This record gives sequence, structure tokens and C-alpha cells, in this order.
Amino acid sequence: MIPVSVTPWRLPSKDLTGPDARTVHLWRFFLASNGSLQDLLSQQEQQRARRLLSPEKARAFVASRSSLRQILGRYLQVAPRDIHFSCNTAGKPYLSGDLEGRLSFNLSHSGDWGLCAVMLERDVGVDLEKINYQLAFEPLAKRFFSPAENTWLSAFQEGRRRRNFFRLWTRKESWLKGKGRGFSEPDLDLDPALVTGVSACSGGWWVINFPVTRGYVGSIAIAGGADRIERWTWPGQVFNP
Ligand SMILES: CC(C)(COP(=O)(O)OP(=O)(O)OC[C@H]1O[C@@H](n2cnc3c(N)ncnc32)[C@H](O)[C@@H]1OP(=O)(O)O)[C@@H](O)C(=O)NCCC(=O)NCCS
Repeated sequence: MIPVSVTPWRLPSKDLTGPDARTVHLWRFFLASNGSLQDLLSQQEQQRARRLLSPEKARAFVASRSSLRQILGRYLQVAPRDIHFSCNTAGKPYLSGDLEGRLSFNLSHSGDWGLCAVMLERDVGVDLEKINYQLAFEPLAKRFFSPAENTWLSAFQEGRRRRNFFRLWTRKESWLKGKGRGFSEPDLDLDPALVTGVSACSGGWWVINFPVTRGYVGSIAIAGGADRIERWTWPGQVFNP
């Protein structure tokens, strides 16, 4: 098991300061409480939201980007609209302009919830999945998981097997998103001895599952690891200094 402490989900106090070098701040937010805050988004993001054909997807995009902007703005003490993002060649967003390099972050959303990890200097990736009880997950496991991982998975009864499928899937996704280098290498190549169902190390990355809320699975991947993961629930009020 990876030696990292993980706090319970809490509401932040007003004086919460930014993460230190060995701490990650992980935020969860309820998409419905931020679905109409398009004014916080850049023109480009607003255009992207308008191009999304499904209103549900557009609302989720607006909610997750506006939450991300508010969370980062809180640390950086800038208005959410004044934050500028660029993306690397694989599409991973990062802070640009005057704020470049001040914080690392990554974002994920699924169903009614979003997740955002914030840390200093080092790369981080997060993935959130709402457990789909109808999904035929076994063909996906065969396609994307290694033989050792499939052997590990097949040892569980149906209910636990599904949950462990989502755990391993999110671990891989968070690791891929942390590296931010495209998705042509889904084989995380975990040491089978470390496929415990909650945490693993690979190539200097720590990859850790955690509960988000009932029916959801989350994972974070941290380059070089961390001592502490502090989990915060975004209260949903608009932050605009
Ligand atoms: C890009 C990808 C990771 C998005 O994943 P998703 O589950 O659809 O969406 P999530 O909610 O987790 O993440 C979306 C956010 O990740 C960020 N993101 C986008 N591209 C990214 C990248 N290359 N790296 C890291 N983060 C990225 C963005 O902030 C995006 O939010 P936005 O749409 O508001 O800009 C996904 O489309 C993908 O290609 N996955 C790989 C598939 C695969 O091979 N999986 C094997 C697992 S075993």
C-alpha cells in the first residue's frame, strides 16, 4: 500500500491556503450547482459549449470549467475569467500567460460530479467515473488490461469485479492524463503484486483510488508521489475577488 494520508471530504475554511510541495488538493464539485455560470468562461470556451450538440454535455462542460476557474482563482487570487489556459499537443490544459507554472491541475467529470486536483510543480492526473451497471465491461478489460490484470480481475464475483474494473480503469486513465501525452499506451504495466485494487506505483508515478460519492470511483496519479491528499468539497458559491 502506498504511504499517503488521505483526508475525508470537507468544506474548505475561508483561510485555506494553497497546497505545499508534498500535498495535493483534490476538489469534488456537484455539476448542477455550477451549470449556469458561462459568464466565467472565456469566449473560446463559450463557443465550445455552444458547439456541443447535447445540452447535457454543454451544461457539464460549463459547470466543470467554471468550477475549475473558481477553484484555481481562489488560490491565485484572480477572477475566474482572468485565468488563461493553453493545451499541450495531446489536449491537456495548463495555466498560461502570467500564471504559467504557478499550479499544476487536472480535471475530470462524469455523471453529476466533477473532480479537480491541484498541486505545485509536479504533473498530476485525475479520472472520475460514474459506475455504469449496464456496461459490458469484460470486452473492455480484455482489450485494455494486461493478462496479469485480467487474471486479477477475474478472481472477483460479479459485483466486486465491476467495481474493480472501474477502479483499474480510472487508475489507468488518471495515469495517462497525468502524463498528458496522448492515449496510445493504455498498458500501465503494473507490478501484479501491486494490483491491490486501490493503489499502485509505476515509473515514478503513484496512482491511488479513492471514494468520491456513492456510485462513483475516482483516481489520482501523482508524479513522484505525495505525503498527503487533502479532499475538499467545492461549496458551489461564485468566487470572484
Ligand atoms: C482525453 C480523455 C482522457 C478524456 O477523458 P474523459 O473520461 O472523456 O473525460 P474526463 O472528464 O476524465 O476529462 C476531461 C478533461 O481532461 C482534460 N484533458 C483533456 N485532454 C487531456 C490530456 N491529453 N491529458 C490530460 N488531461 C486532458 C481536460 O481538462 C478535459 O476537460 P475539458 O473537456 O473541460 O477540457 C479521453 O477522451 C481519452 O482519450 N481516454 C483514453 C482512452 C483509453 O485508451 N483508455 C484506456 C484506459 S485503460
